[in-house]
Amino acid sequence: MEMGIDWAFGAGEQGITFVTRGNQEWYLEHSFSYFTGPQSFARTPGHEGPAETLPQAVGILYNIASAESGILQCFQCHSTGPVALGAGRAIHPLEPGVRCESCHGPGRKHIKAMRRGDLENGFKEISNPGRLSANGLGERCGACHRPPEPDVTVDWKDPWNTRHSPVYLVQSRCFQRSDGRLSCLTCHDPHAPLRRNEPGYYARKCSACHETPRHSNVNFAKTGAADCTGCHMPKVQPHPYLQFTNHWIGVFRDGGPLTPIR
Ligand code: HEC
Ligand code: HEC
Ligand code: HEC
Ligand code: HEC
Ligand code: HEC
Ligand code: HEC
Repeated sequence: MEMGIDWAFGAGEQGITFVTRGNQEWYLEHSFSYFTGPQSFARTPGHEGPAETLPQAVGILYNIASAESGILQCFQCHSTGPVALGAGRAIHPLEPGVRCESCHGPGRKHIKAMRRGDLENGFKEISNPGRLSANGLGERCGACHRPPEPDVTVDWKDPWNTRHSPVYLVQSRCFQRSDGRLSCLTCHDPHAPLRRNEPGYYARKCSACHETPRHSNVNFAKTGAADCTGCHMPKVQPHPYLQFTNHWIGVFRDGGPLTPIR
């Protein structure tokens, strides 16, 4: 079989999945994704299991007309602005990737006002998510990272769910008992790459509220006290090459990173 690759999803921090437009009705999500960790190709999550035909071995077909079909949703979360169907029913994202208007909303009126020098209205015409409450940010960021939904039961044993950071964060006592002072912005700069493997950076965020945490049983001489998140926000690996951070801040048992013991 021969086919081109039309789209590559993922910034490549952890992995990249390829998508090909088949025809007016079908898109194909390739079974082989690139993973940054091992620097090689491996099966795309969700594509495990034996293939019975050659096309099945290549990937999963998505019908764009079907509401449950994931393919339009892939584009919605991984691009900016409305996703349109163009000539030949090809999917056209307005702007690939997560760009300014994903978080700030439409910017046209803001730009017009600023060009006129009308600063007052200019600032009113654009959303500054910095003014949102902690819950409001959970919703705004959760539009793609999944928002907390009180009526939905979450399977806390399924390691895949830990990728839904807003859902987990709101479970923490830190979140529930700090009167809205803990939000995504406490630890993340929305305009800069994620700070990875910098335990000291996150420890400073914790110490804003926990100046001298009481530790009875922890031998810090051995473990290094500064890695607060290493113990209280452990890593979860739902797939050999993907890793997520448990945003349910708590006290965890060794080898039990999914739910805290308290
Ligand atoms: C339009 C959808 C969308 C919105 C809204 C959104 N994100 Fe994301 N975010 C993504 C996607 C998609 C990625 C993954 C990019 C990749 O790795 O392929 C991502 C990645 C991230 C990362 C990891 C970056 C890295 O370097 O690995 C962080 C942290 C993050 N987002 C935080 C936030 C916060 C905080 C907000 C709200 C202020 C937010 N996001 C709003 C879609 C979104
Ligand atoms: C509800 C929004 C949403 C949908 C739908 C969605 N993604 Fe993502 N995707 C994200 C976010 C947010 C991240 C980054 C944070 C994380 O890792 O969960 C991400 C990360 C990724 C990554 C980086 C590796 C990884 O797994 O973290 C790839 C590749 C990817 N998505 C491909 C796809 C493809 C292909 C589809 C459709 C089959 C899809 N996504 C559907 C929001 C979404
Ligand atoms: C992932 C979501 C996200 C994306 C993408 C994003 N921003 Fe932001 N932006 C925010 C949040 C959240 C704040 C509030 C930060 C704070 O208060 O600490 C903010 C604040 C700002 C501010 C400061 C507003 C003020 O009055 O202080 C400006 C200016 C800005 N963003 C411009 C941009 C531009 C330009 C882009 C695209 C290049 C962009 N942003 C992309 C989430 C985002
Ligand atoms: C905005 C303030 C704030 C920040 C930032 C914060 N916490 Fe908390 N945290 C709290 C509050 C409030 C409680 C609840 C204390 C209580 O119940 O008496 C708490 C409770 C805890 C607990 C006990 C959990 C339990 O269920 O018993 C741990 C562990 C913890 N925090 C660790 C951390 C770590 C690690 C960080 C940094 C990654 C952090 N916290 C950041 C406010 C915060
Ligand atoms: C108390 C600090 C803290 C808060 C609050 C927080 N994060 Fe994180 N986040 C982290 C840490 C620590 C990492 C892992 C950094 C590393 O890889 O070294 C992380 C990683 C991530 C990643 C990358 C994928 C992963 O799971 O490792 C995403 C996406 C993300 N956070 C989104 C969010 C969103 C959305 C919010 C708000 C609902 C949020 N975070 C609130 C500390 C925090
Ligand atoms: C080696 C793992 C480990 C590291 C590193 C660690 N903790 Fe803890 N922490 C624990 C355990 C286990 C408990 C439960 C109480 C105990 O056994 O002492 C705990 C308890 C806590 C509590 C609840 C106790 C109280 O004061 O109410 C807080 C808050 C806390 N840690 C914050 C932090 C902060 C902030 C850091 C980084 C400076 C940190 N921890 C580093 C393992 C760790």
